[in-house]
Amino acid sequence: MTTVGLIGWRGMVGSVLIERMRAECDFDLVEPTFFSTSKAGSKGPAIGREVPPVADAHDLKALAANAVLVSCQGSDYTSEVYPKLRASGWDGYWIDAAKTLRMNDDAVIVLDPVNRPLIDNALAKGIKNYIGSNCTVSCMLMGMHGLFERDLVEWMTCMTYQAASGGGAQHMRELLTQFGLINAEVRNLLADPASAILEIDRRVLAKQTDGTLPMEQFGGVPLAGNLIPWIDNDLGNGVSLEEWKGGAESNKILGRGADYGAPATPIDSLCVRIGAMRCHSQALTIKLKRDVPLDEVARIIASANEWVRVVPNDRESSIRELTPAAVTGRMQIAVGRLRKLSMGSEYLAAFTVGDQLLWGAAEPLRRMLRILLEAGMLSRGKGRTGKRGAAAVGA
Ligand code: HSE
Repeated sequence: MTTVGLIGWRGMVGSVLIERMRAECDFDLVEPTFFSTSKAGSKGPAIGREVPPVADAHDLKALAANAVLVSCQGSDYTSEVYPKLRASGWDGYWIDAAKTLRMNDDAVIVLDPVNRPLIDNALAKGIKNYIGSNCTVSCMLMGMHGLFERDLVEWMTCMTYQAASGGGAQHMRELLTQFGLINAEVRNLLADPASAILEIDRRVLAKQTDGTLPMEQFGGVPLAGNLIPWIDNDLGNGVSLEEWKGGAESNKILGRGADYGAPATPIDSLCVRIGAMRCHSQALTIKLKRDVPLDEVARIIASANEWVRVVPNDRESSIRELTPAAVTGRMQIAVGRLRKLSMGSEYLAAFTVGDQLLWGAAEPLRRMLRILLEAGMLSRGKGRTGKRGAAAVGA
């Protein structure tokens, strides 16, 4: 069976990946080794059969014994280990959730329902690096797949409402702790129906601003009862790294831009962190290349892939089905609030919600592993290094 090393499987994305691999019986097809940066020698996760003890994620020799490595460990790990691994002659397939390699020429950003031809082409060319995209990008493209597929998008803006999970497990914990501490501050007043709402409001604000809430994860500001209109690094030109990714990664996935001989589609974002747990939502404004009737737009979007689900643009459907609480833990990408804007019949509004740990992170990686297995790109037995390794992994 194909040897697959899984790195960073205890973290949030990694845990969701293992859960999905179990649900889809992927472990029946591979011989896994679980790696850890801190817990080598411990027991691996339950996958329905015995697995060897957890290996050291810095042990290049142990890593290189795998035909495929899947990393959810994060960009620092990739930056440190990946170059050494390649320098050692390892020639296997590297599947990664981290941003480090995404924009490299020898890497493909994977979202196979949207860009399978690009992936197949890269496999045929011997490309070995397959990287998951930024979570807002994956969720948006899964939803808008049909419009891009038909080349209907002239430009688009994405106003994002991103969940705490995008920052990591500690961010989710910090958000919930903040909610709890704020609630504790006003619990007595809430219990008294005669209490003054302005007094409650004053105490909440005092708690949010007196410096006693845990706020390390969110850069020293509270998220509970608040929002944070900046995500990731400051590029120094008024744009956040998260916003830059929206345009750059989307176009790379779609095979547009100078490298592909097709004009890039302008995609501009304004990315905002909100107090949701693990679903990213986005309000989109789309300039269509031509006036497409709204019912046809809905049909195009709904039929593009089996995961997109169009929610009728009415109050009841929107508040019940188009929310993080409704979509969390589901493979569906909900798309709703579809309507033409008053600025002209080529201007379309849409709202999408997707679980950022599923389609936003783990699922494209899991499916890439399946593509490798099903495409017969991998030989049986252990991966090797160098020229011999190229043969071993079916390059
Ligand atoms: N950068 C994203 C966020 C998550 O902070 O929400 C991963 O793509």
